[in-house]
Amino acid sequence: MLREHIPDLSKMVEPDRVRREVYTDPDIFQLEMQNIHEKVWIYCGHESQVPKTGDYYTMQIGRQPMVMVRGADGNIHVLYNRCPHRGNMMVGDRHGNTGEFFRCSYHAWTFRHSGQLRSIPMIESGYAGTRVNKESPELSMKPAARVENYRGFVFASLAKDGPSLKEFLGKSIVAFDDMCDRAPEGEVEVVPNCFRVVQHSNWKLFMENQIDALHPSVTHQSTGRAAHEVEKQIAKKAKSGEALSYHMLSAFATVTIDKWDNFQTINYPYGHCVLTGYMGLRPQDPDTKAYDKIMIKAYGQKRFEEIVAVNIHHVLVYPGLSVQSPLQQLRAVRPLGVDRTLTEIWHFRLKGAPEPIYRRSLAYYNLVNSPATLINADDLENFWKCHQGLSSDGGDWVSFARHHGHDIEKDGVVESAPNMGTSEAPMRNQMKAWAQYMKG
Ligand code: FES
Ligand SMILES: [Fe+2]
Repeated sequence: MLREHIPDLSKMVEPDRVRREVYTDPDIFQLEMQNIHEKVWIYCGHESQVPKTGDYYTMQIGRQPMVMVRGADGNIHVLYNRCPHRGNMMVGDRHGNTGEFFRCSYHAWTFRHSGQLRSIPMIESGYAGTRVNKESPELSMKPAARVENYRGFVFASLAKDGPSLKEFLGKSIVAFDDMCDRAPEGEVEVVPNCFRVVQHSNWKLFMENQIDALHPSVTHQSTGRAAHEVEKQIAKKAKSGEALSYHMLSAFATVTIDKWDNFQTINYPYGHCVLTGYMGLRPQDPDTKAYDKIMIKAYGQKRFEEIVAVNIHHVLVYPGLSVQSPLQQLRAVRPLGVDRTLTEIWHFRLKGAPEPIYRRSLAYYNLVNSPATLINADDLENFWKCHQGLSSDGGDWVSFARHHGHDIEKDGVVESAPNMGTSEAPMRNQMKAWAQYMKG
């Protein structure tokens, strides 16, 4: 039905440009939710968000309100946040603890953590002779079709068929390996709260920007310059001469636009992408040295060298996740409407790492994401302005032609060519995946 309202989708995406309606048409948005977000593997949260039996966390998968809950058997379930009786959301808070079972606030039907019906008040007298049968699956909270956990990161798919999580992630799985491997104990734990930002634009503008190596030295130049001044002052005062978190910000100004071409993007099937090249050098300050010592003890010198040599700046797991593993943070993208997008920005502790290493990633997390930072504000303004411009009749196309024709393609993987790191290959790759998904 929906497709009949939509202009011919095959004419909307060309290899190096896409029609503006892809970002602004509410019917296209609905079809995206149906064919992409409500089918593929979507990140729900980290297992450490729900450590105890009955702990739950709510999140949106496509248009569906979902709840992730820890069962008494230790398993994590992902359920539709809906009571099978009259449709009440089972939990109204963002997170909490259900106790031994869910109890609906409307008429007190209760459910196990697996979603299975546990009790209905006065069921015998109330439902004798009706179609209601306690064993019917319709009387249980509906579970997500598939749930998988990779190294503590919990994903769900609302489609019962499709690739396994590992097949879907493919090479982008490096995001989770890199983050966990940097922990002496091989695991991370979530820092229990996130920044939640609602941007006034289509969700795809966020995904494109995450791996847009061309924009930082322009969009974030003024912020980078200011950070550079602070960095110099800190260096003057501090004995160690290091202010790594500020250094990562100042790089936006000190790494000029041509230098960003030195990075590389590697673009994978399903729209995933890795941006290589890591801005922060490996510092030699006492905190890093102490951390290195613990890591060598945990892994041995050879494995340690391999772990810290992983050269990643950003991993994009299309369509809803952006991970910065060396900085232990990720952003989960939750589309709310054609022109409204929520991002949840989480960061993690490396288990077994000394406190100053955490403090460093916390500093970066705040410097790029907090409501007080200009980095996020710089991007948010662009997102809003892009959406406004695309909603106008000022033009029909969005161009992704930068370095088009120069990318190196092999076995379905597209690498930006040497010294062409600012290639718009990641955007082309995302839209290629998008067009395939949208065919249904
Ligand atoms: S709506 Fe949940 S028990 Fe009635
Ligand atoms: Fe940015």
